Amino acid sequence: MSRRPLIAGNWKMNGLRADAKALASEIANLKKSDTADNCDLLVCPPFTVMETVGTAIEGSGVFLGAQTCHTAESGAHTGDISPVMLKDAGCTHVILGHSERRTDHGESDADVQAQSIAAHTNDLIAVICVGETESERESGNALQVVREQIIGSVPAGASAQNTVIAYEPVWAIGTGKVATPDDVQTMHADIRNTLKDKLGEDAANGMRILYGGSMKPANAKELLALADVDGGLIGGASLKSEDFWAIAQSCPSN
Ligand code: PGA
Repeated sequence: MSRRPLIAGNWKMNGLRADAKALASEIANLKKSDTADNCDLLVCPPFTVMETVGTAIEGSGVFLGAQTCHTAESGAHTGDISPVMLKDAGCTHVILGHSERRTDHGESDADVQAQSIAAHTNDLIAVICVGETESERESGNALQVVREQIIGSVPAGASAQNTVIAYEPVWAIGTGKVATPDDVQTMHADIRNTLKDKLGEDAANGMRILYGGSMKPANAKELLALADVDGGLIGGASLKSEDFWAIAQSCPSN
């Protein structure tokens, strides 16, 4: 089954308005001048620059996403942002369960599942993140840990249309260490099998599974060529338009 690659930029807590506008405009212009059109592009800026970025990418075909959302649609939740607000701000996607959210904010698989349901209810595509720690990998438990995260975080109503999975080994995020292509392919195939058991063949075969963790122009081509890798979730390298673009250009052509 052919799955259109998705290259997603996770800007994390980076970007003041002027920088965000410049970066988003550069990405939008590159996308507009693209003749290959071999992947979807998504940028996920912080909430404070959502509108700035949304305006800069308007009409370019680049998608807009957020980095988390609350489960409720509105109400007494100081400091939180609801999926309805994200939709209203022009978002089509939302990253959920990133390891930094799981660590910094204690988000559990059950929380991520509830957020994903809220995202789906509001017509947002959930980009659900999973990944093992270094000690879990070293003790030989990586596959089992990620299986449990998939089972616990992905809701029963997930489909290839409303959900993307991002496999991000925690030890590879922002460290410059990258999982070997063999380990990445083994993990992605295992995730797809777990999705088959949970959601059925069609959803599992159609669902995009991204790799994230120190993906850069220099390693992107090899990773993106793997059979079960359908794109990337990019942190550091998404903050430079030329690097983000070089990664997008590394997707296999259709
Ligand atoms: P990195 O971050 O590319 O800087 O490793 C990836 C992520 O955390 O999504």
